Amino acid sequence: MRVLVTGGAGFIGSNFLNLSVPARPQDTFLNVDALTYAANLKNLEAIERAPNYSFERVDIADSAQVDQCFAGFEPDLVVHFAAESHVDRSIVAPDSFIRSNIIGTFNLLQAARARRTKSELLFLHVSTDEVFGSLGSEGFFTETTAYDPSSPYSASKASSDHLVRAYNRTYGLPTKITNCSNNYGPYQFPEKLIPLMILNALSDKPLPVYGEGTNVRDWLYVADHCSAIWTVIEKGRVGSTYNVGGNNEMKNIDVVHQLCRLVAEEAGKNEADLLELITYVKDRPGHDQRYAIDASKLKAECGWEPTETPDTGFRKTVRWYLDNPDWVESVRSGDYLRWMEQNYGGR
Ligand code: NAD
Ligand code: DAU
Repeated sequence: MRVLVTGGAGFIGSNFLNLSVPARPQDTFLNVDALTYAANLKNLEAIERAPNYSFERVDIADSAQVDQCFAGFEPDLVVHFAAESHVDRSIVAPDSFIRSNIIGTFNLLQAARARRTKSELLFLHVSTDEVFGSLGSEGFFTETTAYDPSSPYSASKASSDHLVRAYNRTYGLPTKITNCSNNYGPYQFPEKLIPLMILNALSDKPLPVYGEGTNVRDWLYVADHCSAIWTVIEKGRVGSTYNVGGNNEMKNIDVVHQLCRLVAEEAGKNEADLLELITYVKDRPGHDQRYAIDASKLKAECGWEPTETPDTGFRKTVRWYLDNPDWVESVRSGDYLRWMEQNYGGR
């Protein structure tokens, strides 16, 4: 099978490729990525010379580049990760979210539709639970929950989901969608909560908690998300949507406390000193209060369940950031420092 992976130099895409390329020597993988600030080819060093892997720099918002790539590679399967993914950046500057997430997905769907006149193809669209908006203290998102996105990021992902479904219903394109909860694990860019807190704690910097820290997220270890994606590809129904979650609802402040304990244990620091670094800062505008996923459809239809809990997965993640100082150094560039100043300076 010829597998086109978009956004494979980002966090989830690179974990997906690192797990899939060696495990599936019968398949050929092409990773197409525009190499934005969130990408890092260092993530892929373990597989970059594998005979069944190659990389091309492609901007999916450029239809000519997408068409050329489909014509050259002729994929049987598209696994679509590429997106602008950070809610706070979408609030500061939404333009690239519209471009990459909506126009980029549209270009891929058009190319997939054209390719399908020659051969069968499956389009797996990787999406988010943020399309459903915010929950109160009760209830879960199911696959039939109405879309109600709050941020430019989630609105752009909702829009891309609608396009994918429309291409299935209108043109019969074989598509599947996964809507997943918050991921964490190796190679996550330290603008997101978990790596930001780990790296700030390691260097005794403030730990900025938005609002009162009571917002709830459902945390899933990235390898579990990757296994869910393969499960949906292999066992999910064409035209269907599957929610993916970890059954690990936690308040942000509890996540930060747990990370302080783990960083103290793993790095030989004093936990009380790390807790002192917690700083409550101005809230995110439109901040969704609670996300919680009902993943029972994926379990019932395909037998998928997560394997990691925060107890095991958070510790592995802290260890990974401690054991990879070169990677950390490579992402803390001038751009990263400018973003830190822009997002946190005025809070
Ligand atoms: P990321 O920001 O770490 O990586 C995104 C990748 O997409 C980067 O390598 C970037 O260079 C690439 N990209 C961006 N715009 C592009 C363009 N125009 N053309 C080609 N490549 C482009 O994101 P992530 O956290 O790995 O998320 C991957 C996907 O999973 C996204 O679609 C996101 O919406 C979805 N998702 C993420 C999470 C999460 O918790 N991180 C949860 C659910 C769903
Ligand atoms: O739910 C899936 C989504 O999870 C994905 O679609 C997104 O791509 C991914 O970025 C993530 O979105 P969140 O906004 O939930 O993740 P983030 O790590 O930015 O924030 C998690 C929670 O922590 C959220 O309630 C905001 C809060 N937070 C975040 C940062 C960066 C803080 O309190 N302080 C911070 O500095």
